[in-house]
Amino acid sequence: GDAGRLKGLLQGRRVVVTSGPTHEPIDPVRYLANRSSGRQGHAIAAAAARAGAAVTLVSGPVAIPDPAGVRTIHVETARQMLDAVEGALPADIAICAAAVADWRPVAEGEQKLKKQPGAGAPALDLVENPDILATISKLAKHRPGLVVGFAAETENLIEHARAKLQRKGCDLIVANDVSPSGGVMGGARNTVHLVTASGVESWEETTKEEVARRLVAHVAGLLGEPGA
Ligand code: CTP
Ligand code: CA
Repeated sequence: GDAGRLKGLLQGRRVVVTSGPTHEPIDPVRYLANRSSGRQGHAIAAAAARAGAAVTLVSGPVAIPDPAGVRTIHVETARQMLDAVEGALPADIAICAAAVADWRPVAEGEQKLKKQPGAGAPALDLVENPDILATISKLAKHRPGLVVGFAAETENLIEHARAKLQRKGCDLIVANDVSPSGGVMGGARNTVHLVTASGVESWEETTKEEVARRLVAHVAGLLGEPGA
């Protein structure tokens, strides 16, 4: 079965996984976020644990339970997620499946923003968040031996994934089409393409759990034998 397939593949390995969205506060009651459910990242963390790895899952706010056998750290913002990931290193493998908010409000209002009669809508000034995947891919010390990113695209999937692989400095990009018609964001199934410097491997549409199992087996293969 499932556990049998993965058994021992990542024994003795340390794995860090990011999952879910981030919430970037606007004021005490409002935030910027996205539609990520955390399903794919959580399934990867669970599969890595079943493969025998010591797994740290750094999760943004999600509505799904912590996976069994996984040390789960709950965060809200991109900056908190980066701190937690860095705190979980060193690791053999990092898999960044989180849908990190690209921008955050410049400053969090201390009080709830109020409507000002006649003044119109407030402007939301944004600043770019740290890129967790790029940051850990470029670490001089403690760069995980294998760094995996995801690319969520609505067009030119492979082209954008190749560009991301280069820009981020990671070893593998799992590219998935998140066009609204595909139902991937929040859905149960996924169609992914593994993009590396040496080419593209496309997998047929399947469940996020099966993508997770196949990905764990794949990265275990890339890493080779324990201690190698
Ligand atoms: N990522 C990250 N930190 C960020 C933004 C993205 O770690 N601040 C990671 C994601 O977890 C994913 C990969 O980078 O593994 C690609 O995320 P994606 O949103 O597809 O790419 P971006 O570089 O943010 O580019 P864009 O959203 O403009 O396509
Ligand atoms: Ca992004």
